[in-house]
Amino acid sequence: MSEMKKRRNDYYYKRAKSEGFRSRASYKLMQIQERYHIIREGDVVVDLGAAPGGWLQVILALNATAIAVDRQQIAPLEGVVFIKADITAAETVEKIRRVAESVDVVVSDAAPNLSGVWSLDHARSIDLARSALKVAERTLRPGGNFLVKVFQGDLFNAFVHEMSSFFSFTRAFNPQASRKQSAEIYLIGKRFSRQQRNALASNVKQ
Ligand SMILES: C[S@@+](CC[C@H](N)C(=O)[O-])C[C@H]1O[C@@H](n2cnc3c(N)ncnc32)[C@H](O)[C@@H]1O
Repeated sequence: MSEMKKRRNDYYYKRAKSEGFRSRASYKLMQIQERYHIIREGDVVVDLGAAPGGWLQVILALNATAIAVDRQQIAPLEGVVFIKADITAAETVEKIRRVAESVDVVVSDAAPNLSGVWSLDHARSIDLARSALKVAERTLRPGGNFLVKVFQGDLFNAFVHEMSSFFSFTRAFNPQASRKQSAEIYLIGKRFSRQQRNALASNVKQ
């Protein structure tokens, strides 16, 4: 079956079409939210790699405020502030800070353009996840939450270790809406703390 046909036969693809969501990815965020409650009403949420906007629709439905970042244009959505930027660029954090002084949640569904070479795609996905973690580190309020997509591979455990030093709770989760053959997995970090990170770093130095 061709890729296009597979996509059209996909349960979540069809459901997104009929329920008015911009992408099947909306259901992944719904399933993560149902399990881990990362977003609360009134939260300010930064969505990295947000195009075409399926996650943004879920964030808005939770009565949270969304700031969307993507290097691709996003069709306007009422109530969403859009920043056209590369999440790996140093100035992106400043651009986010200009629109939100305090951020409650950072989510990232950013994915590299796939080359088909497993190890390369994995390494690029870890690079993007690391950039997302940097944005979180620089914008999240203490106690804030983080969600990031990564493709599994040999750099995965080191990234989980790095991420877990910032959060009192870190879990990996595979939502049902992820395709069965996909290597993607989502990491959830809850209760952000810079102190926890600093304490761990000074322990390592001793
Ligand atoms: C799987 S899509 C996100 C789908 C989105 N969560 C939704 O529900 O509609 C991945 C997005 O990551 C974006 N992306 C990848 N690398 C990026 C980068 N370095 N900076 C900004 N956006 C990036 C792509 O442009 C693409 O729109």
